[in-house]
Amino acid sequence: MIAANWKMHKTTSETREYITEFLPLVKDVSDVEIVLAPPFTSLAIAAKFLKGSNVKLAAQDVYWEEKGAFTGEISPLMLKDVECSYVIIGHSERRQYFGETDQTVNRKIKAALKAGLGVILCIGETLQERESNRTFEVLKRQITEGLKDINTDALVVAYEPVWAIGTGKTATPEQAQEAHQFIRTELKAIFGNEADNIRILYGGSVKPDNIASLMVKDDVDGALVGGASLKPDSFSAIVKFQGGDS
Ligand code: 13P
Repeated sequence: MIAANWKMHKTTSETREYITEFLPLVKDVSDVEIVLAPPFTSLAIAAKFLKGSNVKLAAQDVYWEEKGAFTGEISPLMLKDVECSYVIIGHSERRQYFGETDQTVNRKIKAALKAGLGVILCIGETLQERESNRTFEVLKRQITEGLKDINTDALVVAYEPVWAIGTGKTATPEQAQEAHQFIRTELKAIFGNEADNIRILYGGSVKPDNIASLMVKDDVDGALVGGASLKPDSFSAIVKFQGGDS
């Protein structure tokens, strides 16, 4: 899976222009699940323009209640209604700026799965946590608490070291593999050997020129791309990292 997280970028008309340009560039790609996660306001128009294509739609967040007096929130059913296949949950920016915790992440994952949405769970350590040798401890906590009482492996996990997001400082392929391998082991402790089927994406300054060296690693099963996904040509180059069209 290679997924674009647009964060707070693009109006509806910019979304339409992007998709019109992007789809022909990736039309022959069949061995990568391609996902776009625009902001909420662009989901409906994105769904309309992606219809019948090989690109799926994701939202960037969701609330855990089905409906009610929760001003400003969006329910899993509303995301299904605009044809989202996936929802990103627990992005570090939500943890850092909007009070997301492992407990709220857990509630959101349960609600999303119940509604039939695929979940892309984001985890990752800060620079301070890495420098104080707490990377594994943080990842373990985010996995065990985020996935508490969840008994399906219909999940995607994105490892996004906070220090690599938007900084141009990509994790080395070795650092990514080390973290992904650890994540796989923790997932196995929860889901058994089924965890081999869970895709673990890397995110953090992924670019057309570093994607191939990351994807070659055993436990790197895809990427979650921010800045470099905002232009159709650079995102399509990432999707087609093997150099071919398929
Ligand atoms: P950048 O690719 O801009 O570093 O962002 C990564 C990210 O946060 C994707 O969710």
